[in-house]
Amino acid sequence: MSHITNPDGSAPTSSSASPLFNARRVRIQHIARAKAEGIPLTMLTAYDALTAPILEAAGVDMLLIGDSLGNVILGHSSTLPVTLEDMERATGAVARSTSRAMIVADLPFGTYEDSPEHAFASATRLMKAGAHAVKLEGGEARAHIISALTDAGIPVCAHLGYTPQSENTLGGPRMQGRGDGADQLRRDSLAVQEAGAFAVVFEMVPAAIATELTRTLSIATIGIGAGPNTDGQVLVWSDMAGYSDWTPSFVRTFGTLGAALHEAASDYVEAVRERTFPGPENYKNA
Ligand code: KIV
Repeated sequence: MSHITNPDGSAPTSSSASPLFNARRVRIQHIARAKAEGIPLTMLTAYDALTAPILEAAGVDMLLIGDSLGNVILGHSSTLPVTLEDMERATGAVARSTSRAMIVADLPFGTYEDSPEHAFASATRLMKAGAHAVKLEGGEARAHIISALTDAGIPVCAHLGYTPQSENTLGGPRMQGRGDGADQLRRDSLAVQEAGAFAVVFEMVPAAIATELTRTLSIATIGIGAGPNTDGQVLVWSDMAGYSDWTPSFVRTFGTLGAALHEAASDYVEAVRERTFPGPENYKNA
């Protein structure tokens, strides 16, 4: 059975699956138009070909191959060990299994910070794997890299506020943009906009500054732990779906997937042990 059906087997409703402006492919002009018209943008992470089409069928506008894949999929304790090869493989899987969502792939730590040439070489590999845009962490200090990539035809989404690749200089996951940090966030936001970024993710910043910047910037703002007033929201899909026991306080869990999977696997174990699986419907007698 296709994965992209409702539990009763019917097709997803047109409202949940409705693409942004009926776009066959969500592109940067649709993101700009959504900002201009005040239409909330939806982004979720995706890392594989099993999950991505389900998220797309639900109507998600942008699928982010986040380097959170390091924690969520690969079992690392941070995003730092994630390689370009990890990102290429996941980007390819998401790209091959979807057709409408804009695919945004993270440039992993150590693959873009030192020079525009290095950034271009890395971004090119993600674009060849199927991405339509890349995301990178940093503001003023990375503006020249954003300009070089956009000049080369690669749309860039910037990531400001708490930037997990810098967790060691930021002192771990904590709110950014408070006090003096607010002015730096303003400067960083303007710098990435002027450098040509089509959108900016604000992670773990106070709602008030995210609201102000959403009002003043012309590019779309996408929040995670940044309050309700950004142009869009992004979550790690497994957090959103209730796959694991713990989620940060800014996450709402919209499902109980972890519990459902545990129950299914427990039922399977029991059925095998009781020899009720496979049943006659699962095999043919010779
Ligand atoms: O890698 C990721 O999942 C992200 C989001 C949290 C924005 O960058």
